[in-house]
Amino acid sequence: MSYNIAIDGPAGAGKSTVARRIAKEKHFIYVDTGAMYRAMGLYFLRNGIRAEDTQRINEQCKEADITISYADGEQVVFLNGENVNGLIRTEEVSNMTSACSVNPKVREKLVELQKRLAKDADVVMDGRDIGTCVLPDADLKIYLTAGSGVRAKRRYEELSAKGEECDLAQIEKDIIERDKRDMEREISPLRRAEDAVLVDSSGLSVDEVVEKILLLCR
Ligand code: DC
Repeated sequence: MSYNIAIDGPAGAGKSTVARRIAKEKHFIYVDTGAMYRAMGLYFLRNGIRAEDTQRINEQCKEADITISYADGEQVVFLNGENVNGLIRTEEVSNMTSACSVNPKVREKLVELQKRLAKDADVVMDGRDIGTCVLPDADLKIYLTAGSGVRAKRRYEELSAKGEECDLAQIEKDIIERDKRDMEREISPLRRAEDAVLVDSSGLSVDEVVEKILLLCR
C-alpha cells in the first residue's frame, strides 16, 4: 500500500516549497497538481479561448494532452509533448488557470491523472482539492494557509527574483480574487477537509513548517 500526504491551501501559502522538501526527506514523489491546471490554462491562453467560454473549453480540453515526468526529482509538465515548466508561472497564466479550473471537464481529466499517480507510489500531492476529492483516504492531510498580505509578499519576492516586473498591491488583489473563486466554485472548492490538520505558516519559517508536518507523519 502506498502512503499519501495531501497538502491543500490558498495560493502562496508555501505548499509547493514545503511539499517538495517533505518529498525529499521521505523519498516520496512530489506531485504539483497546480502545474497541471496551469498547463491547461496555458493551452487555452495560446488558443485564444476565454475562461467564460464553457462550450469551447469543454470541446478543447480533450485536445490538451497533459503528462508529467521527473528529472532529478523535479516534476516536469508536458503539454502535447512540450515541456512547459518555464512558461506556466506568470501572473497571466495564474489568473487564467484559476478561471478555467472551475470547469468540470478540466477537473475530471486532471483528477483522474492525479489519482493514478498516487495509487502505486508514495506521494506528497499539493493543490486545492486533494484531501477532499483526489485523495479522500490520504494517510495525512494538511491545510496550509497564511494571511493574504504575507502570501502576496512571498509571491512578489518570488516574481521579483526572477526579474519579472510586478506590483505588490496588484498581486494581493489578484490573490484575494483567486482565493474567492477557488473557494466559491461549485465543483471541488478549496476547503479544509474535516480530517485535515490546519497549519498557519504566517509567522513560521519553511523549516518550522516542514518539521511540524514531518512530526505529524511519525
Ligand atoms: O497551486 P497553484 O497556484 O499552482 O494553482 C494554480 C490554480 O490552479 C489555482 O488558482 C487553482 C487551480 N488548482 C485547482 O483548482 N485544483 C488543484 N488541485 C490545484 C490547482
